[in-house]
Amino acid sequence: MKKPSDSSTKIIAQNETCQTMSIEDIAKDAGEYYPSKDLQISPYYSFPYWGPLLFQTKLPPKDLKECAKICRKKSSPVNETLAGVIKHEHHVSTKKYTDILSPYLISFRHGYSQWYGIPLTKTIKMTMAWVNFMVAGEFNPPHIHPGCDFSSVLFIKIPEELKEEHKKFSGTGGGPGSLSFTYGEPQLHSLFERHFFPEQADLFIFPATLSHFVTPFMSKGERISVSANFQLD
Ligand SMILES: [Fe+2]
Repeated sequence: MKKPSDSSTKIIAQNETCQTMSIEDIAKDAGEYYPSKDLQISPYYSFPYWGPLLFQTKLPPKDLKECAKICRKKSSPVNETLAGVIKHEHHVSTKKYTDILSPYLISFRHGYSQWYGIPLTKTIKMTMAWVNFMVAGEFNPPHIHPGCDFSSVLFIKIPEELKEEHKKFSGTGGGPGSLSFTYGEPQLHSLFERHFFPEQADLFIFPATLSHFVTPFMSKGERISVSANFQLD
């Protein structure tokens, strides 16, 4: 099965319609020939998606820099409460991180109402935040974040060597250093997993019970990400 391209990771609102292509264009895209004189049907269609909300956005350099400042190996370790096989996992101030992330939580709130068709009226309170300094051989097995509603991950740094390693990867799955989400059982003609090789400043927010994992890599350098949990009050 062909891997979905990263460009298809944008949020597609429910019932968004394909209104810009003619049936000829659609047929051409599908590798078929369909002369317009035979047109009897509307080319419009929709994707009535369901399932977990996976929200993706990007922080500007200024905010990313502020986030990097609050990620320190001197902060207390948080390893005992996490699934990751990662040596350096340290607490991050929820107050400082919330201050930076607030505008993006507003955006997430908007995305939530687009996705579920109902407004999110509760307060989104960050309950915990931590930074992962991931190096060669380390990984995060499939896991969820119990005891909260939503979780997030922000990518502070992706080493150049890792980018090269990922470019050379030719197997199935997400490849070295990628973040993967899985949902439901594998089904024919169904997307039950999504893989992302993250770029610096990518921010994902997702239901805390959506299973996810990070594939190990072999390159030198640190892949730095900040995770957080949120509760709806
Ligand atoms: Fe996680």
